Amino acid sequence: MLRAHAPGRVNLIGDHTDYLGGLVLPMAIDLGTTIEGERGGDAVVLRSADEDEPAVVPIAIEDPTTVEPGWARYVAGVVAEVQPALGVEGTVATTLPIGAGLSSSAALEVAVALALGFDGSPLALAQTCQRAEQRATGVPSGIMDQLASAAGEEGHALLVDCGVLTTRPVAVPEGVEVVVVDSGEARTLVGSPYAERRAQAEQAEALIGPLREATTVALKGIDDELVQARARHVMTENARVWAFAEALEGGWLDEAGRLMVASHASLRDDYEVSTPTLDALVARLVDTPGVYGARLTGAGFGGCVVALTEPGALDEGWTVRAAAGASVSEA
Ligand code: GLA
Repeated sequence: MLRAHAPGRVNLIGDHTDYLGGLVLPMAIDLGTTIEGERGGDAVVLRSADEDEPAVVPIAIEDPTTVEPGWARYVAGVVAEVQPALGVEGTVATTLPIGAGLSSSAALEVAVALALGFDGSPLALAQTCQRAEQRATGVPSGIMDQLASAAGEEGHALLVDCGVLTTRPVAVPEGVEVVVVDSGEARTLVGSPYAERRAQAEQAEALIGPLREATTVALKGIDDELVQARARHVMTENARVWAFAEALEGGWLDEAGRLMVASHASLRDDYEVSTPTLDALVARLVDTPGVYGARLTGAGFGGCVVALTEPGALDEGWTVRAAAGASVSEA
């Protein structure tokens, strides 16, 4: 019997920067997806307690986009990338809320890749699963979610430089809680303006070069106000990620919280990926005693909010712990 487990992730700060070679600070969490099964046959057959229909994917699959039901496309994307010699038959179980912005799809992809016998570094695993996700959905998503799931470290968030693809663990200090609250607004990247936002930011890069390196003065070289605002978000968000990592390491939690609130405002005003429900939720949490800061986490357009708090400040949502990355065992 093999058992592959992959965690979901929450992003503490740094959104809509990964696909531009920027900085992100996600952490793998103690909610995740587990596959149990046996290798063999020429198909991947997975049943999930959360889905009516199983995923049945031939190992020779070439086009994941035609696979039904929808959740099986993520499985198919991974099968198409890994090209295993043998299938797997088993079950999928998850403790993650599905489609709520905690990377349930990345966790599924990473768990499937390990169940299929993928053998490589956490980075190679993440890159394989990123390609699988893009192939399955057609959405040009970045590397953050898969990398957080593959390379997480217990007790730490991961400062990822998505330009050179290096990771540095940043300890989550004692005496602080990371709380994730679901807005209840379901979201999926498919059909969202994610690809449009990415294209707008790339339009800015075509004008002033990599946003990662640009100075704020260079923003003046962008006439289109909307494109300028997209670029401003990316540039200021990269700076906030550095500052947040430093604040966390220094134990300056008020400063860390302030940076989260500024990140939310930038995602709302400059990148326009928030919603009135997310804004209201962030405002309410930030007004609660003992909350250092809160922001939308992940792509936006609904989904979850993450808050940094004193222990016990919030009695809602999931209090999550920084967990180790994905693993597989065979008994
Ligand atoms: C989604 C994508 C990530 C990243 C975030 C926004 O989660 O999968 O690659 O772009 O949105 O930061």
